[in-house]
Amino acid sequence: MDSLPALVERALAEVASSGDLAHLDEVRVRWLGKKGQLTEQLKSLGSLSAADRPAAGQRINEAKQQVQEALTARQSSLEVDALAAQLAQGALDVSLRGRGEQSGGLHPVTRARLRIERLFGDIGFTVAQGPEIEDDFHNFTALNVPADHPARAMHDTFYIEPGHAGEGALLRTHTSPVQIRALRAGKPPLAVIAPGRVYRVDSDATHTPMFHQVEGLLVDTDVSFAQLKSVLHGFMEAFFERDLAMRLRPSYFPFTEPSAEVDISCVECGGKGCRLCKQTGWIEVLGCGMVHPQVLASCDVDPERYTGYAFGMGIDRLAMLRYGVNDLRLFFENDLRFLRQFRGG
Ligand code: FA5
Ligand code: MG
Repeated sequence: MDSLPALVERALAEVASSGDLAHLDEVRVRWLGKKGQLTEQLKSLGSLSAADRPAAGQRINEAKQQVQEALTARQSSLEVDALAAQLAQGALDVSLRGRGEQSGGLHPVTRARLRIERLFGDIGFTVAQGPEIEDDFHNFTALNVPADHPARAMHDTFYIEPGHAGEGALLRTHTSPVQIRALRAGKPPLAVIAPGRVYRVDSDATHTPMFHQVEGLLVDTDVSFAQLKSVLHGFMEAFFERDLAMRLRPSYFPFTEPSAEVDISCVECGGKGCRLCKQTGWIEVLGCGMVHPQVLASCDVDPERYTGYAFGMGIDRLAMLRYGVNDLRLFFENDLRFLRQFRGG
């Protein structure tokens, strides 16, 4: 076995030759760790006579202390070297000005959605939700669109490959399936809105494959079309914070009867005719109608006793109109130069 001075000499040599902090730590463990070579020396004390033990113990402790001091000194010098190297590389320039803090903001579509939720919340509608991966039953069949019904062609549907999400799984093409879920989950009277993402195979300046709708559904006894019209008109004027003309055009949805599409006077030109409204003075904002008795029946609601209205509008369309954005795709490109304009406003 090496003598104590020889061990110390080897330990000090290793300390002196360690080139970085990680290596230095290995050296510390090897000599002073729980099973380090110098620590192990203390175990040999047991074989000495009681008279020799104190002096031998003191020598070992002094040896350990000597090595510890060398380690500490080497560590500070390596730290100084590391900092100097970092500074030389220019990785840390303490003379640079701070970057400051960037405040975040809500996405314009989110702002529009929250505004819609608040305005309908004020008149007693609660928020309902449904899955984005729907099944054929909720998206079509229960909404009075049986298989082979020509209305299925109105929506270019993304179907999910068989074997991935259950039989007939698809990405919902509108928020109307939430009507079915809400009607089956609760008994009338019922007043819900259901905002969320919907998907269609579609893409140009006013259509994106993913967009947002908000569904409205109110079912009670004696619900009238006039009430629907008045609620929608009140909502549009509150949303845009101005007087607006509104008109209903007869339309067709399998799940409402009668059905209508709703236009508001162009928010850009006030109805005189401009590029935004394609010179018509009107902008289509939503589809609506009285809930079809067949839909109520498919949800075990008695159509003789209850009536209801429903509507579905594009949140992105409303956001475009409110914020004067002319291309729907801008909302989804996540260009911060675009999005920052809505921060805090
Ligand atoms: C429907 O989706 C019906 N579910 C609406 C409805 C609900 C009618 C309840 C009756 C009762 P439509 O396909 O027209 O209808 O879409 C409704 C609204 O969504 C449109 O007025 C428009 O504002 C918006 N929209 C439709 N397609 C797109 C698209 N590709 N990109 C952005 N917005 C769209
Ligand atoms: Mg339409």
